[in-house]
Amino acid sequence: MIKAAVVGGSGYIGGELIRLLAMHPEVEITAVTSRRFAGKKVHKVHPNLRGLDLRFRSDYEFDADVVFLAVPHGTSMKIVEQFLGSSKIIDMSADFRLRSDLYREYYGEHLRPELIEEFVYGLPELHREEIKKAELVANPGCNATATILALYPFRDVTEEAIVDLKVSSSAGGRRENVASIHPERSHVVRVYKPFHHRHEGEVIQETGVRAMFTVHSVDIVRGILSTVYFPFEGSLRELLKRLLVYRDEPFIRLVTDKGGLQRFPDPKYVLGSNFVDIGFAYDKENSRAIVLSAIDNLIKGGSGQAIQNMNLMFGLDERTGLDYYPLYPV
Ligand SMILES: NC(=O)c1ccc[n+]([C@@H]2O[C@H](COP(=O)([O-])OP(=O)(O)OC[C@H]3O[C@@H](n4cnc5c(N)ncnc54)[C@H](OP(=O)(O)O)[C@@H]3O)[C@@H](O)[C@H]2O)c1
Repeated sequence: MIKAAVVGGSGYIGGELIRLLAMHPEVEITAVTSRRFAGKKVHKVHPNLRGLDLRFRSDYEFDADVVFLAVPHGTSMKIVEQFLGSSKIIDMSADFRLRSDLYREYYGEHLRPELIEEFVYGLPELHREEIKKAELVANPGCNATATILALYPFRDVTEEAIVDLKVSSSAGGRRENVASIHPERSHVVRVYKPFHHRHEGEVIQETGVRAMFTVHSVDIVRGILSTVYFPFEGSLRELLKRLLVYRDEPFIRLVTDKGGLQRFPDPKYVLGSNFVDIGFAYDKENSRAIVLSAIDNLIKGGSGQAIQNMNLMFGLDERTGLDYYPLYPV
């Protein structure tokens, strides 16, 4: 059994990691940390986990083959030292996702720049072979995951793309703040960040395309829809052929229905799963394409992708513990 620890277990990503790891047939959870809830049972914070016999702790004196750092960006680089060399590490934060110049551009100065190159960018569809050999993995951002997977097959046709993102409330984490309380958050279509969203850096790094994000907070609890617009010349068949690069990917489903309400991806139909639904529309007369990508931000956008990476790092079938269909209706 793989001994796994979750640092930052009281957050939304930590909670999903605990839920998925608890059901994973090859994993034993050896520790879950929280400073605020040390000593409390995990279901006091994550009520869906009632019945799971686990308590939070605040120290890092545990035994683990793999440590998931589910903490805010800026924190991982401060605490990573104590796990280096003794455990494999999967960092959920942004601290080790970007090469140095992009990190500086999007986040500022890094406390451990010498470590950045040691981390593999944990998007299995692009970096599967490197992840298999990695000790340290930087799990991608949720908006970045959806957008990179939509854009990657078209990275040579355009230098720029417009990206419209609809993002759920859980993407902001479990921290209390006025913007996320119910009277302020419900029923919004709020532009969160019109330019220079930090996940743009990941898209540039992985695709070479300068993607201009507009992130909208919308009235859903989980899920992300990334709508990517770019110029495209060629036939519909050529467009589809590019997307077929994902034909054998276990977690990518191409949505190609010609009619019906569900002919385009919608986060509603991936929730609770590690799937990415990718679809498209093509305006041949005006040489414009749209590729759409829907994920559950807490699973393929976070904890599910981290477990996919763990499976690869430990030589398991990458679907282990993740091989289930989404919830419906939700
Ligand atoms: N939410 C998403 O959809 C999503 C998707 C992909 C990636 N991520 C990334 O995953 C990470 C966690 O996100 P989240 O949404 O779960 O955030 P969150 O709900 O705010 O949880 C943050 C966790 O970090 C712990 N923490 C905060 N400061 C800490 C410190 N200085 N030392 C140790 N632990 C500390 C908190 O625990 P205590 O305060 O109880 O100790 C809490 O468990 C972030 O880096 C986020 O950007 C989030």
